[in-house]
Amino acid sequence: MRILFLGDVVGRAGRDAVERELPRLRAALALDLVVVNAENASHGFGLSPEMARAFLAAGADVLTLGNHAWDRKEIIPFIEQEKRLIRPLNYPPGTPGKGSVVVEVPGNRRALVVQAMGRLFMELLDDPFRAIQAELAKHRLGGTVQAIIIDIHAEATSEKQAVAHSFDGLASLVIGTHTHVPSADHRILAGGTAFQSDAGMCGDYDSVIGMQKGAAALRFWRKVPSERLAPAEGEATVCGLFVETDDATGLAKRAEPLRLGGTLSPTMPAP
Ligand SMILES: [Fe+2]
Ligand SMILES: [Fe+2]
Repeated sequence: MRILFLGDVVGRAGRDAVERELPRLRAALALDLVVVNAENASHGFGLSPEMARAFLAAGADVLTLGNHAWDRKEIIPFIEQEKRLIRPLNYPPGTPGKGSVVVEVPGNRRALVVQAMGRLFMELLDDPFRAIQAELAKHRLGGTVQAIIIDIHAEATSEKQAVAHSFDGLASLVIGTHTHVPSADHRILAGGTAFQSDAGMCGDYDSVIGMQKGAAALRFWRKVPSERLAPAEGEATVCGLFVETDDATGLAKRAEPLRLGGTLSPTMPAP
């Protein structure tokens, strides 16, 4: 299965780039499954239903969220209806929406997409390790599903690597989101699971993690709460990881980064 995961889409710059590039990428890379983290699509904070529909129309199969899941309140009724939009699995019971989805993939295949949120330097949720373990116990990689993708939305690379090694051989891909900077550690682990500590953001990198650099830097110089942040609006880099898996085992055969446009050095997976 040919899979593309795109990291946190930030603001209009990120949305425009993803909506413009995704249909072309989908064809050029013969993608079977596209997963996009959309927690910062709405001016850096949350996701509106209209934006979710636009990503799905542009070629995303599943959208994930994160700690900004509920910044746009309209997403709460929407997530109850749209099962292709998921939020972290380890929110407490009773939280709207779901933390996983099984989607149909062309060729009579199915893929499970799961998102969990880390706990280091973040709001404390339920245990992400046991939450992922319980979810994976409902499926069989290479049996009931041909691919399993785990989006670990976390601040600390240690926690992300711990998740990856815990589920190595049980998932096709463990991919980090949330830090908005692509890490250079993309690889296939010993058990056959592809991994990258962070996919990076789809947004303008001439910024502080997607927000206008002047105001964002000032926040570190002085503590004035009224200094509101707005997304940077220069050309975005579309950032993510391409993974090709073996349908029989569900394990990864290739893991190659994608960076397109904007200010980061470009790289494109081989066709
Ligand atoms: Fe984010
Ligand atoms: Fe986040």
